[in-house]
Amino acid sequence: MTRRNAAIIGVGSYLPERVLSNADLERMVETNDEWIVSRTGIRERRMGDESMATSDLAARAAERAIRSAGLSPSDIDLLVVGTSSPDHALFPSTACLVQAKLGLGCAAFDVNAACTGFVYALQVGASAIESLRAETVLVIGADMLTRHVDFKDRSTCILFGDGAGAVVLRAAVEPGVESIVLGSDGTGADLLKVPAGGTAAPCTVERINERQQYVQMQGNDVFKFAVRVIPKATVQALTASGHSVEDLAWLIPHQANQRILNTVEERLGIDHDRVFSNVEKVGNTSAASIPLALDDLYTSGRLQPGDLVALVGFGAGLTWGAAVVRWTMTGPEQGGLPE
Ligand code: UT7
Repeated sequence: MTRRNAAIIGVGSYLPERVLSNADLERMVETNDEWIVSRTGIRERRMGDESMATSDLAARAAERAIRSAGLSPSDIDLLVVGTSSPDHALFPSTACLVQAKLGLGCAAFDVNAACTGFVYALQVGASAIESLRAETVLVIGADMLTRHVDFKDRSTCILFGDGAGAVVLRAAVEPGVESIVLGSDGTGADLLKVPAGGTAAPCTVERINERQQYVQMQGNDVFKFAVRVIPKATVQALTASGHSVEDLAWLIPHQANQRILNTVEERLGIDHDRVFSNVEKVGNTSAASIPLALDDLYTSGRLQPGDLVALVGFGAGLTWGAAVVRWTMTGPEQGGLPE
């Protein structure tokens, strides 16, 4: 029996207009452009204004992805949103808010795997198609971590930015998402967390005074975890689909830090110009990072039909995931209509 595949037939992204530059951060915490650029490669990131929530960014990215697929909202029969900064702490899910904003007539739910959220959501979407439970799935990665970082903590507030990216998956005979490997290790949960606000430690005045409602990170340990897990997961996903690093046209890692990307590049022995980076412009956008990067690459005309691409994420949890995808979309000038 012919295997049914899930192919990416649409891609889109959205960044809020407001730019938060390193110079802006210099006015908020004791830091400087030279330190931020040399340690992270980040020069600026985007920040949603007060009228915006994660679902607004997600809906705009999704509209663009649906349009680039040449479809309409009524064609979508499942929506999965990867996010760890939902509009509401408990419910409704961000996916339901996006469903209403776009007028979709389908089931919708969130997946929380922090910065790995998009790869996890892609696994859910691709599996639904491969198992014949869906034909067309909208997969979004969206986060607004600027709402959750402590702008008094210079080790974290310089890293994160807001954004959203989306893909449309559709059942296909030709290859699409060829393999996905996912992993988790909760013994590393303390390395990157928001201590207060959940059932373990509800937000109290004391905890808020201790600033426990904000992201806390042991940066060095997360760095070491990232440079270990990205090459390993990439090779595992490539092997699972019968490929090797040499076959890759592009490696699109989670955009957390340029030094992480450089180390991964060395460890995998892949050319610098095949490792995509836009971290300089957007910072770490968490679950949005990979689909934002994919859209950036696609709209710049550097992705060709037939290209093999690896999408590799890591993040809090700890979580990680790698997907190997055969690109099938023609250039944006033929297929997509990015604004
Ligand atoms: O999506 C997953 C999320 N996280 C990541 O991927 C983060 C991974 N980790 C990192 O990217 C890096 O660990 C950081 C960029 C967060 C930090 O870089 P680092 O080279 O590991 O610096 P460090 O934490 O070892 O700090 C070195 C020094 C310290 O000063 P002392 O103790 O040597 O005097 C820090 O206090 O740099 C200081 N520092 C800063 N200085 C100026 C920390 N943050 C800043 C800052 N500006 N923003």
